[in-house]
Amino acid sequence: MIKFNKPYFVIETNSLTYAFKTLATGHLEHLYFGDKIVDSDLEFLHTKLTAKARGVIDYLEEQGRDIPLDLIPLEFSSSGKGDYKLSPIELKMPDQTFVSDFIYFKHEIIEGILVSDKLPSPYDDEKNTQTLIVTLKDTKFNIYVDLVYTSFYDVDIISRKTIIRNEEKQTINLRKIMSMSFDIYGSQYDMLTLDGGAIKEAQKHITPVAFGTYINSSVTGNSSYKHNPGVILLEKGTHEDYGNCYGFNLIYSGNHYTAVDQSSHGILRVMQGINPAMFEWDLKSNEFFETPTTILSFSSKGLNDLSHHMHDFVNKHLIPRQFREVDRPIVINSWEGFYFDFNERKLLGLAKKAKSLGIELFVLDDGWFSSRNNDLSGLGDYDVNLKKLKHGLNGLSKKIHQMGMKFGLWFEPEMINPVSKLYEKHPEYAIKIEGRDPALGRHQLILDMINPEVRKYIIDEISHIIEDAKLDYIKWDMNRDMTDMFSKHISNQGMFYHSYMLGLYDVLSQLREKYPHILIETCASGGNRFDLGMLRYGPQIWTSDNTDPIARLSIQKGISYFYPQSCISNHVSMSPHEQTLRKTPIDTRFNVSMFGVLGYELDFKFLNAFEINSIKKHIETYKAYRHVLQFGKFYRFNEDPKVRMNFQVSLDDTHVIGNYQVLAQPNPNLEVLKIKDLDQEKVYDLKSLEQKLPLEKFGHLISHALPIKLNPNKALFRLLSRFKQLDNATEEAHISGNVGMKGYKMKQQFMGTYYNDQTRMLGDFGSQIYIIKESR
Ligand code: DGJ
Repeated sequence: MIKFNKPYFVIETNSLTYAFKTLATGHLEHLYFGDKIVDSDLEFLHTKLTAKARGVIDYLEEQGRDIPLDLIPLEFSSSGKGDYKLSPIELKMPDQTFVSDFIYFKHEIIEGILVSDKLPSPYDDEKNTQTLIVTLKDTKFNIYVDLVYTSFYDVDIISRKTIIRNEEKQTINLRKIMSMSFDIYGSQYDMLTLDGGAIKEAQKHITPVAFGTYINSSVTGNSSYKHNPGVILLEKGTHEDYGNCYGFNLIYSGNHYTAVDQSSHGILRVMQGINPAMFEWDLKSNEFFETPTTILSFSSKGLNDLSHHMHDFVNKHLIPRQFREVDRPIVINSWEGFYFDFNERKLLGLAKKAKSLGIELFVLDDGWFSSRNNDLSGLGDYDVNLKKLKHGLNGLSKKIHQMGMKFGLWFEPEMINPVSKLYEKHPEYAIKIEGRDPALGRHQLILDMINPEVRKYIIDEISHIIEDAKLDYIKWDMNRDMTDMFSKHISNQGMFYHSYMLGLYDVLSQLREKYPHILIETCASGGNRFDLGMLRYGPQIWTSDNTDPIARLSIQKGISYFYPQSCISNHVSMSPHEQTLRKTPIDTRFNVSMFGVLGYELDFKFLNAFEINSIKKHIETYKAYRHVLQFGKFYRFNEDPKVRMNFQVSLDDTHVIGNYQVLAQPNPNLEVLKIKDLDQEKVYDLKSLEQKLPLEKFGHLISHALPIKLNPNKALFRLLSRFKQLDNATEEAHISGNVGMKGYKMKQQFMGTYYNDQTRMLGDFGSQIYIIKESR
């Protein structure tokens, strides 16, 4: 897996090779990252400098050591020795200069991974991981940098992190230290990032990389929905199923930073790590600083293949091991149905109906504690609101459990309202700066997670509730970005953001260890902290507060570049939708939510009998294909997302495709369903799920579809629509694998002529689910 054949280091995964070498000066030259190399002679990967170049600095003017660092693709660089590409490290050295020069000192190869005791680390218990630690030493001072590489052989991921040790007597000041950096040749790259905001998370953007530096980062104190830490560097022309692309993601939930720096010599440097903005770390004598881990992958087969590496890593090496490959329950969450307005009777009514439909986990969201009848007060307090819950959480939980459902509860543990009992008693627990009025977000302040007393308070209070209410699930929310950063528990306020994250991870890992059975779903106003760091503690994340299925298509698609469906939590909610006012069919709401972990977030009493019946059928379908939907291989398509989108999941001999019509086209073209991942030699049965058409969909046009003339404004129409729906076309076919991959010819779509039950009636926001199974 990892080999050292002086001067070459080679890290291999199942299908990838990553290589670098030590130069005569001791610097490391990056040689290669791509598809596996079979030849063991790597000299041909070396940069062939045959003459002096103009305007470059030679490292040392001495035969063999006159290396121009600026012209060489490096594995990790220092500052102030002639490499003018963006530096991955910035240190104020013991001599008060910013000049550092790290060169090879020693290396070690170990089995497994180098686990961190403070930061989220992946698991190595598959026993197919190996780690290389290359130690660099500054040429003047006893300061060491360990470059740590792990091969996750089975999933085609290489992880990297950096550890810096100060063995000098003086404290040094660390201003920037990346988890990884390396250089490749080339200037023909684009950068794929996921950007957005509240209720518009993870919108995919592709930006050409030009000269200079392009940065994707967050400064909000969380990984943020503004810019997700996942980044892909793709060669121009690459698409979902073709082309060379590199993927990077950080196992971290705080301020992140990825920079791509295009040099004037045709070298492209990429680096990822903690955001150096507002970062300054005092590294005392004999202390070390460890960066979060970054994961790297490559594919020559396009973006779907790259995502599969990322997904396999999360499912097999990152999420808490007790949830690995374990089917996630279907949720009913009280939030959008009731908000703060509930009592025990209403909750039990919702749970009973949910149970009768096949739902498995009841989650009581915000509003169960203290004075919390709106979002103005109560955060920080944990006393149960007995006006709403007359038998307490324990009484409610008992009844839910008796119904045969699991019981879960919402918390926002990192927050405090100035109007709360906790604030009255401990105003110093809140983050703020003396002499400044702290900025509020959703009327709340943030608790100082750097303070050990605060961490103990949170752990004790949550533990008490977990035990009293016998919780099976926790929703861990976080609803504001950071401001007024100050803690008296650190020596340098530049340490604030990262120390906060260490505090948060400490609380999460203690609770994880104490209550391993609890399923944690994390959330931050939706997807404001959708990252690999949080996934190490809770295996699923609330993707967005936007549950409109059409808006959700681009959000779920964006998230899928880096995160598997097993961690993408999706709920079916009401129509018209509260954020977009869009009216969508109940089938489409399910057809989109099913590609991930399914839940419901509505009050069933507002649904009609047809919709309730549909939900029952949807849940049966979901249960039948749950493992495929949560753990199958997920595929995106190259399509115009404004018109039509498709999602596919495949596991063993079963494939499920969601075909979504975003906007109906007049007189549309005939269409094919292009199925991926079939075996050319095999034969398959294809069928689409049955869906009904409500009469309201047709309005006045109904007179063309029914033998009787009806006026949609009259009572008879309304009465009939309660008892009758029209049939929509279904498809059933026996197809060979190669035909399916070339494109199965679908039935004609409505073309503005007339309705019959063999015509696919989609209209705007219509969708259909196709199940393709190997024929036996
Ligand atoms: C924001 C979350 O995203 C919602 O799902 C809900 O839990 C609210 N917070 C509750 O305040």
